[in-house]
Amino acid sequence: MLEFSERFITAANRYIETLRQEVNETLDLVSKFDNGCPPQLGDAVRYSLLAPGKRLRPLFVLLACELCGGQRQLAMPAACAVEMIHCYSLIHDDLPAMDNDDTRRGRPTCHKQFDEATAILAGDALIPAAFEMLAKMEPPELAVRCCRELAVAAGASQLVGGQMDDVLQERTPASPTQDFLERIHLRKTGALIRVSLRLGGLAAEGTEPQLEHLDNFGADFGLAFQITDDLLDVLGDEQDVGKRLHKDSEKGKLSYPAILGVEKSQKEAERLVNKAVDSLTAAGSKDSISFDVLRFMAYRLLNRKC
Ligand code: IPE
Ligand code: IPE
Ligand code: MG
Ligand code: MG
Ligand code: MG
Repeated sequence: MLEFSERFITAANRYIETLRQEVNETLDLVSKFDNGCPPQLGDAVRYSLLAPGKRLRPLFVLLACELCGGQRQLAMPAACAVEMIHCYSLIHDDLPAMDNDDTRRGRPTCHKQFDEATAILAGDALIPAAFEMLAKMEPPELAVRCCRELAVAAGASQLVGGQMDDVLQERTPASPTQDFLERIHLRKTGALIRVSLRLGGLAAEGTEPQLEHLDNFGADFGLAFQITDDLLDVLGDEQDVGKRLHKDSEKGKLSYPAILGVEKSQKEAERLVNKAVDSLTAAGSKDSISFDVLRFMAYRLLNRKC
């Protein structure tokens, strides 16, 4: 694995923080609804959306745009859109009917802070809000393509389908295989990460081969990301992670450490990150800060604490 100098780590973290702040400021602006929105609904949406998430997916949108030679502001609507879809998926994932969690991003989950109906509706409201963001992109052909790509990634055969299989597996455990679990993780988590990179590439008018390489980066990174999420559930610190831990094993959930054990899961995440970096190298300019930062984010995944 590549070693990074202290100087580079400081510069990369500063760059990431700048982008994160730009995303947070824009999310704040675009989540102020008009008078038609009942205050309780607006409060619940903003409570969850503006909570201190890592903003991984919007960062990928912006960095992929820059990697393909675009100005990152062009991709900001797409960055907000993927965070909105991600945020809705977390609100619904935490509901009693799903993972029944009471902490998220270091705070009470949406349904604990408000109530279940409000949390369901806050999640619902974020879905059209995401597509409204994308619909504003210019030219209209770009907006249409981005809407279609996000709709597919968030839809019944990808994010929602992965969540459905995850829930079904919990209720009627079948004999677990790594292939089956991989298919769940690639859809429930990988699909949105993949499309984040693609939307950034599209905003910069990246070439089809560039989009393909970014997509491959996203698929491998996305699977590794969910494997490390499973690992954090076993090994993490609740304060750092900002959500309740050991819940996968308590619920008998299918997870990488449950199937492969901790060490093999770590090795698998490492293999995937190396593969992801190979795709990144093929995707674009190796002399850019966005390339260096994306590669840094990929390797850093293997030591993540939150
Ligand atoms: C949590 O995603 C849900 C998974 C797909 C594992 P993140 O770990 O990106 O959560 P936030 O956005 O930083 O809260
Ligand atoms: C969540 O997976 C995936 C989505 C929200 C689509 P998890 O259920 O493992 O995520 P956490 O651990 O609650 O964040
Ligand atoms: Mg879940
Ligand atoms: Mg969950
Ligand atoms: Mg988890």
